[in-house]
Amino acid sequence: MNAASAAPEKGLAMIASDRARQLVARMSPAEKLGQLQIVFRPDQDEMADRVRAGLGAIFWPRSARAVNALQRVAVEETRLGIPLLVGLDVVHGQRTIAPVPLAQAAAFDPEMAEHLARLAAREARSGGVTWTFSPMADISYDPRWGRVVEGYGEDVHLTSRMTGAMVRGYQGAGLSSDAAIAATAKHFVGYGFAEGGRDYNTVDVSERRLRDVLLAPFRAAVAESAAAVMASFNTIAGTPMHTHRRLLTGVLKEEWGFGGIIVGDAEGVRNLLAHGVAGNIADAVRLAYSAGLDVEMGGVPGELNADALAALPAARIDDAVTRVLMLKEALGLFEQPYSNEGDEITEPGDDSRRLVRRAAARGSVLLKNDGTLPLPASSTASLRRVLVTGPYARSTDHLGAWTQSFGAPARSIAEVLAERRPDIDFAVLPGVDFTDDDAAGIEEVVAATADVDLVLVCAGEPSRLSGEAASRSDLRLPGRQEDLIRAIAATGTPFVVVLENGRPLVTADWIDQAPTVVEAWHGGTEAAEAIVDVLFGDEDPAGRLPMTFPRSVGQVPIYYAHENTGRPASVRGSMDSTHVDIGLDGPANVQDKYTSKYLDLDLGPQFCFGHGGGYASFAHGAPRISVPSISVDELRAGGAVAVDIEIANTSERDGDEVVQLYVEDIVASAAPPVRRLISFERRSIAAGENAAVVFEVRWSDLAQWSDAEGADVVEPGLFRLHLGPRLDDTQAVEFSVSGR
Ligand code: GLC
Repeated sequence: MNAASAAPEKGLAMIASDRARQLVARMSPAEKLGQLQIVFRPDQDEMADRVRAGLGAIFWPRSARAVNALQRVAVEETRLGIPLLVGLDVVHGQRTIAPVPLAQAAAFDPEMAEHLARLAAREARSGGVTWTFSPMADISYDPRWGRVVEGYGEDVHLTSRMTGAMVRGYQGAGLSSDAAIAATAKHFVGYGFAEGGRDYNTVDVSERRLRDVLLAPFRAAVAESAAAVMASFNTIAGTPMHTHRRLLTGVLKEEWGFGGIIVGDAEGVRNLLAHGVAGNIADAVRLAYSAGLDVEMGGVPGELNADALAALPAARIDDAVTRVLMLKEALGLFEQPYSNEGDEITEPGDDSRRLVRRAAARGSVLLKNDGTLPLPASSTASLRRVLVTGPYARSTDHLGAWTQSFGAPARSIAEVLAERRPDIDFAVLPGVDFTDDDAAGIEEVVAATADVDLVLVCAGEPSRLSGEAASRSDLRLPGRQEDLIRAIAATGTPFVVVLENGRPLVTADWIDQAPTVVEAWHGGTEAAEAIVDVLFGDEDPAGRLPMTFPRSVGQVPIYYAHENTGRPASVRGSMDSTHVDIGLDGPANVQDKYTSKYLDLDLGPQFCFGHGGGYASFAHGAPRISVPSISVDELRAGGAVAVDIEIANTSERDGDEVVQLYVEDIVASAAPPVRRLISFERRSIAAGENAAVVFEVRWSDLAQWSDAEGADVVEPGLFRLHLGPRLDDTQAVEFSVSGR
């Protein structure tokens, strides 16, 4: 458990209001049933018929006017006039598309994420949306999984901080505000740990991994009063999450006091038949609602009938209906079910464009830089002609996964470059497509490099290769992009690679030939502008990797917060024949042979979690700790160990530093991770200036799950804190925790 996953002090009201109680008492079984479903959007007339028949929640029908028409049916043409919930996947923007969540995580800037979520909420609510199926709180160690783009990476603390920020952003104005929508933490739980990184696949994890890793971000969301939680498609140890009573009801509702609604994922109830745990829909419905599901999503309106619910205790059904009515009440829908159609936001404004453009730049990560970046900010003889190549040279596909057709489009990098720097002659030759196995265009690109001062290679994955049902078995750049990069490297012309992708990539086959590489992810509506801002130094690519970049897909899962194992390797393996005469040499660990590594691959990742650093340079002073020791009781009582560090900007340009604080538990009752992030701060420091960064280490930062205690505990002993700008560039200080 960590700071962001402290026990929830808040949660939606568990006490039913008078209105909710009176409505439930008056409702027929069929009316109750109608409140417990959200249906996909068939055509408008069919939707109106379903609403007239009692349906209580719909997917957004794509305009405030269409929402108002359906709200009028619900309010004026049904016996009880209960208004509708209107749901939609507002994942990283509604009209103004923000960088994908993984890019937002890379900014290590939860405050920015909160602003982006607030912008999305304002735009969505203006169109009549009142409920988003976001944020995705799933941690994953597996970049083969296409949905890593929708989450915040591999780390518990970072994901918890980002998830909490998103809930605050969506709901912070107050659910009845016209700038708020109900947040849904999804997909509860473990979805990102699918075997093989294959979407929807089997998950089997220990209670400890559940408690210390997978559940933590959801606990952070509940602590911020997330209105809903979505059950995930996967099983855990053979139990589908849609029927997992211990986790849905035992942990989420009872242990954490979650007062909102648990919504199923699309057809998650119907999927129970394929899982092999229900013989028919009625059984599936009974299993799901008994386990704690409150609202079924979109798959079984015909079969989800009063008979199916009749098999359930009335109290369970009434609890589910009460939760739904309480959310509608919190959203102010009984008082004001209608949107003002004239206020609907359908286009980005200047402010919203500025915000997402800045967010995209802040999420950029400088993987490597030989000093080529930033490019000269003004006209200079050394930069007269630039060749722009790669599939992202002209592509406008920058929005990333989970954007709908009504999201504001992006421009191309080539277009923005030409507009921004008329003093430079830009030649544009994409050379290869994203995924075609056609390298014929590379020769022309190579020839063109002879006449330019610099080549800008714009490479990556198209949006369609990440997101739901988009797992990849091969993490390299698709198509013939790697050939293009190698061919350009061979010319000796200076070049920069800009990557736009929705997951960590394997770059091993070209990265050593590329002296300067920027990870820009899928940056949204203003992605091209943000990339150009970074290239010319108007913005500082000070982001850090929220997820490990492997050397090979064969290393996956690979993550920084791993156990040390009993035989950690210090040297890479070898394919050469080694003669080990156990009789002569004994079963010793001969030259690190018998250690955890691959014979055919270097140790460790290509780029580790937290990797990155902007254009400025910083010096870190020695960290200082406030006390050498603290007791468990003092920690439980709210005490803290403070650690501070002085950061100096030693460069001639303002810049951001991301100071990270990791904890190492030297000896524990269960094998501890080698390190865990427990805090971070992104700090802007002016050229030549200093800044003091202070962290406070509290009980929740040190507590980890104990199977023996069946709870989070802080064990007495020695702890080491590691502070620095990157995981592999830290300084350590120690303190001890005493038993009493
Ligand atoms: C999808 C996704 C879920 C989304 C839902 C509604 O299958 O798993 O994240 O919110 O359906 O679109």
